[in-house]
Amino acid sequence: MGLIERVASDGPSEPGRPQRPRAAGSPAPEFDLDFDALAALGAYTPDGFGRSHVLELRAIKRALLKRIGLLHAGGRRGARDGGRRRNVVVVTSTRPGEGKTFTAVNLALSLALEEGASVLLIDGDALKPKVRSYFNIPEGPGFVDRLMDPSLSVSSLAWRARQAPLAVLGEGSKTGPAAELFSSQEARAFFARASTAAPNRLIIVDAPPMLATTEAYALARHADEALFVVQADATPQPAVAVALDELLDVNPNVSLVLNRCLVPGGGAHYGSYGEYYARARAGGAPEKE
Ligand SMILES: Nc1ncnc2c1ncn2[C@@H]1O[C@H](COP(=O)(O)OP(=O)(O)O)[C@@H](O)[C@H]1O
Ligand SMILES: [Mg+2]
Repeated sequence: MGLIERVASDGPSEPGRPQRPRAAGSPAPEFDLDFDALAALGAYTPDGFGRSHVLELRAIKRALLKRIGLLHAGGRRGARDGGRRRNVVVVTSTRPGEGKTFTAVNLALSLALEEGASVLLIDGDALKPKVRSYFNIPEGPGFVDRLMDPSLSVSSLAWRARQAPLAVLGEGSKTGPAAELFSSQEARAFFARASTAAPNRLIIVDAPPMLATTEAYALARHADEALFVVQADATPQPAVAVALDELLDVNPNVSLVLNRCLVPGGGAHYGSYGEYYARARAGGAPEKE
């Protein structure tokens, strides 16, 4: 499978945090959202995120909630009855470093803190896992462990925030190529079960980039919606076209998220998001409700 056993660490390096790696099967772990630490990383906090960011994130959120059937004109409603839910969202991009994790984490925080939406955030990037670092969650069993051992329960592996309906499932105790695992029947079964187990919960998967490996394709097959992050003025257009085309082959429900990491003349400004083209497929079929 190409996965590499990770050597257990003693947990986060930051002092004063009692969290430690856990054995698989231990009770649901919890963590505190550290808003100062999140703000220092430029991430969403209830009052620390710049006004324009909040507005742009809100637009992305609303469009997403609407598409997956959790928000309809006139207000919020439950997921559609019957059949497979549409609550699995994968976040990917063309190359590394374009803001996939940043987008996934901020979207998850904003949905949970601002909308009160229940969110399960999964680190699906076993090569460059970074989700845990936003929440100071230590290494331990996670997503790949669950896929390799279905007897493990997500509720015993995912870390639950004490202040919001947010659970974080880290990448797990093995890192490395995981395309085979992510495209397995077990992965399909995992997402089907996770989707129906809590129909009003959003499952956000932070995936690897499209062009580096095939993991993202495998994950996108299981998702109902894909968010494709484009780093403004940085990602070469031909590369975006190739990656996007291949993504659309496995998942037609792609939305583009423009991540402006660098604001011209803005010095130390944090960038912002803007969804500039919902429905990426040429011709952009209008959204159905
Ligand atoms: N809009 C943004 N504003 C500020 N920093 C950002 C923004 N987008 C990305 N970053 C930073 O850029 C770096 C790479 O982003 P990351 O989300 O880890 O990329 P990826 O997951 O695509 O590899 C991180 O340090 C992240 O904090
Ligand atoms: Mg990442």
